[in-house]
Amino acid sequence: MSGDFLALAQPGVQQLSPYVPGKPVDELARELDIDPASIVKLASNENPLGASPKALAAIREALAELTRYPDGNGFALKTLLAEQCRVELNQVTLGNGSNDILELVARAYLAPGLNAVFSEHAFAVYPIVTQAVGADARVIPAKDWGHDLSAMLEAIDSNTRVVFIANPNNPTGTWFSAEALDEFLQDVPARVLVVLDEAYIEYAEGSELPDGLDFLAAYPNLLVSRTFSKAYGLAALRVGYGLSTAVVADVLNRVRQPFNVNSLALAAACAALRDDEYLAESRRLNESGMQQLELGFRELGLGWIPSKGNFICVDLGQEAAPIFQGLLREGVIVRPVANYGMPNHLRITIGLPAENNRFLQALAKVLARG
Ligand SMILES: Cc1ncc(COP(=O)(O)O)c(C=O)c1O
Repeated sequence: MSGDFLALAQPGVQQLSPYVPGKPVDELARELDIDPASIVKLASNENPLGASPKALAAIREALAELTRYPDGNGFALKTLLAEQCRVELNQVTLGNGSNDILELVARAYLAPGLNAVFSEHAFAVYPIVTQAVGADARVIPAKDWGHDLSAMLEAIDSNTRVVFIANPNNPTGTWFSAEALDEFLQDVPARVLVVLDEAYIEYAEGSELPDGLDFLAAYPNLLVSRTFSKAYGLAALRVGYGLSTAVVADVLNRVRQPFNVNSLALAAACAALRDDEYLAESRRLNESGMQQLELGFRELGLGWIPSKGNFICVDLGQEAAPIFQGLLREGVIVRPVANYGMPNHLRITIGLPAENNRFLQALAKVLARG
């Protein structure tokens, strides 16, 4: 008789739901039997600009060394990041996407009997990394779709080791102010690691969102995670980073895979960091696209959750699943968020102007069909 390898998995793993990614373009193209080029995908908060030409050139150059292992310490990228983020080199941890950083934190600091606190409607990876190591997930009800920081504070107990907060949050796009963050950090016990997930922070520059890096010196229990997947346009390469005290970085370094960031990703990330023009264009496109979608929603009589990310959740005022299916039939992929406790919303990534337009027209058509 063979073993029941589901029942044998540790209890947290048995109970977790795997991450559901956006539907791939090729999959929908096969289903509809249409040209993939005719499909618009606004489902995974990817940068619609395509990668920076400078990053592409750096990748071409790095191809010559493909037989060699990458620099396991990511010296060049860490040096650039340390300089840009005003920290020491030993405070930077590189990850295979910022997802990897979240996982390293869970592996290093959580275990059965301990818990992590995070908000309702927060990024799906927080429960996954928490449960995967057998720790308890304390999910705190959201307030106006955003984090209820005071309720999160109250939920912290002696078994809490990690709090995940995202600014702005995905999928809601909600955010909190510098004052709110400061008050929160002041009250979190010093032995609880606060992971401030800033995957979308580059889009919020110049707004009232705080820069998490400004708080690192004052709060040794703070880790800021960031990524090259969004505003830097390198989602496929999987590269992100954490900024923390050197002690926390050293701990994370102990549990990471020796070569967790590949050499093409390292080279491209260095080039992308230096490409100010690309970043500025990403922001400009995002801002105008956000306005385009908001205007479109207004014209359709729909509500939405104001967002500081490169995505926006529209409130359909009815179950969103049939509308999502209708959009797929129109060749438009967006993201259902029922698994985030938001059955009446769809999350739309800001695309190029023509893509946003295609989406809005398809939405109008699907809604008109009833
Ligand atoms: C809030 C948030 N954090 C982290 C990530 C992880 O991104 P990556 O692993 O590509 O850096 C995402 C990706 O969608 C996200 O939305």
